[in-house]
Amino acid sequence: MPERVYLNDVGPRDGLQNQPKHLSVEERLELIEALRAAGLEQIEIGAFVSPKAVPAMAGSDQIAHALKHGEASYSALIPNRRGYDLATAAGVKTVAMVVYGSDAMAEKNVGMSSAEAEAATLDMLLQSKSDGIEVIATIAVAFVCPFAGPTDPAIVHGLAQRCLAAGAARVVIADTIGAANPAQVTALMEGLVEDNGADKLACHFHDTRALGMANVYAALQAGIRHFDASIGGLGGCPFAPGASGNIATEDAAMMLQSIGYDTGIDLNKLLAASDLAERLTGTAPGGRSKPWLGPYLDKGQVI
Ligand code: COA
Ligand code: ZN
Repeated sequence: MPERVYLNDVGPRDGLQNQPKHLSVEERLELIEALRAAGLEQIEIGAFVSPKAVPAMAGSDQIAHALKHGEASYSALIPNRRGYDLATAAGVKTVAMVVYGSDAMAEKNVGMSSAEAEAATLDMLLQSKSDGIEVIATIAVAFVCPFAGPTDPAIVHGLAQRCLAAGAARVVIADTIGAANPAQVTALMEGLVEDNGADKLACHFHDTRALGMANVYAALQAGIRHFDASIGGLGGCPFAPGASGNIATEDAAMMLQSIGYDTGIDLNKLLAASDLAERLTGTAPGGRSKPWLGPYLDKGQVI
């Protein structure tokens, strides 16, 4: 039996939050459904944040209400208790809070210090226990901050350890601007796996300078089996200069499958979802694997 690797498609959130064209609720639901049909079991469906801060995520409550929670793990990004209350009232069972490797990034993103954002996350973790809600903690700028420079790995270790001890379902190590290299990924992830085990750790890479897949491979070798990715390589944080697209789900799925892992993903249907993302946004660059994969899959050939 091939070993399983889990992909969480963050396209409907990280992918769409920064698009010049804001998709309608119906279009966003269509994209989520295409991802689910392709076999994605984890999808970040939106964000319960201030609509003034991120207008593209307005309407996430309507999306959450329309989905059948349970047919897949549909998570949503939240920055504070208000987001928690809105998300859970709309039926969301998994929320993602962000903690920060630097004060500067926390300030730009949510107007808090890193310690305040961590305190908010620990507060949500406590609350979630009695509500039966799962909390994912993402450590933003875990490698490099566009404002403060390289992040001290000790900060990331401390954040990961405290979030896991407080009951986080998963801690996601995020290279928010795509500045990490594979040697740094190996060093950080091997250390984190040694201290915490691999089960509850995940990685979130951006492909800003074509190191996305190399970084996935480095994390994989360190034992990581959970990755965020975004359909069509959509993505980028509006508050982090230099952040371009996430690693494309089709690139990650192709690489993982071709080296022998099971992702549970149907590549044909995933390419259809990527085409849809491109059609809806008009800007999706498409995963680099797409032109290569299409003809192979048409002929029913293995990758
Ligand atoms: N959902 C919806 N609205 C929210 C909210 C939430 N989770 N939290 C706060 N608000 C509203 C407030 O009610 C207020 O509305 P008003 O101006 O109509 O009164 C407004 O947002 C500002 O709230 P305030 O508490 O003064 O906070 P702020 O202006 O310092 O903004 C955040 C703080 C966290 C709400 C805002 O920075 C944010 O939403 N950031 C998210 C950033 C993000 O998603 N980044 C990309 C992903 S990493
Ligand atoms: Zn991201």
